[in-house]
Amino acid sequence: MFDLTGKQAVVTGGGSGIGKAISVLFARQGAEVHILELNLEAGQHTAEEIRHAGGQAHVHAADVSQQAQVVAVFQQIGRVDILVNNAGIAHIGNVENTTETDFERVFQVNVKGAYNCLFAAVPQMKAQGGGVIVNMASIAAQVGLTDRFAYSTSKGAIFAMTLSVARDYLAAGIRCNSISPARVHTPFVDGFIAQNYAGHEDEIFAKLSRSQPIGRMGQPDEIAALALYLCSDEASFVTGCDYPIDGGFIKLNS
Ligand SMILES: NC(=O)c1ccc[n+]([C@@H]2O[C@H](COP(=O)([O-])OP(=O)(O)OC[C@H]3O[C@@H](n4cnc5c(N)ncnc54)[C@H](O)[C@@H]3O)[C@@H](O)[C@H]2O)c1
Repeated sequence: MFDLTGKQAVVTGGGSGIGKAISVLFARQGAEVHILELNLEAGQHTAEEIRHAGGQAHVHAADVSQQAQVVAVFQQIGRVDILVNNAGIAHIGNVENTTETDFERVFQVNVKGAYNCLFAAVPQMKAQGGGVIVNMASIAAQVGLTDRFAYSTSKGAIFAMTLSVARDYLAAGIRCNSISPARVHTPFVDGFIAQNYAGHEDEIFAKLSRSQPIGRMGQPDEIAALALYLCSDEASFVTGCDYPIDGGFIKLNS
């Protein structure tokens, strides 16, 4: 089960955290993995880890928010069986203290970045007779979180984008789903704690861990396992859905 042998997978942001775990797992399951990364060095580290374990990996330096760069990378790759739109950035703030620049940057990466990859991959998937897409949303798209104005809004767009693509390309054999993690322990989390709560890192880490009723943050491997299921042939009846993976965050937090 969950064999990806012979499939070409593109994972954006595969140099770190969840994207890295997905890249490593997909390669272990037989996929030829293409990591599309802003941070070339980080992408290369993931690719080396994959090759060291006997897998196939390539790194493409690109900023997902730049359509010309994204299209050029996908032209180079050719066949795309799996696309994981994972690259994303965080932002802390409410509507009053979120600047226009910050709002636009979050949207450029989290929303336009996913659109750019879909724009490049979908025609290829159609031409080859199908494909599968997983978009990384967040529980922030479904519950009101304090000080996540721009971020939550961007993930709400991912939720809706997933439905739109799933609907439009049913007949083309393209499945499209999203994953909504609660807090997952990655450099993304460590980075924004350090940036926004300097001096209170341990306290905030413990608070963020407790906000999942299960009592801890998720691990990138746990998200990768769900992504593998959704991208595998075993999930052939699954499209147009969001999958929370949240330690009970959405339903058990009362
Ligand atoms: N970690 C969490 O708690 C959590 C929870 C819910 C959703 N998510 C989502 O999961 C995804 C991955 O998060 P993570 O925690 O693994 O993050 P991370 O910061 O550890 O990794 C993100 C990767 O994306 C790359 N990236 C950033 N901007 C890019 C761009 N413009 N073009 C190409 N690559 C770019 C970075 O270089 C980095 O390697 C994000 O979309 C995030 O919103 C994370």
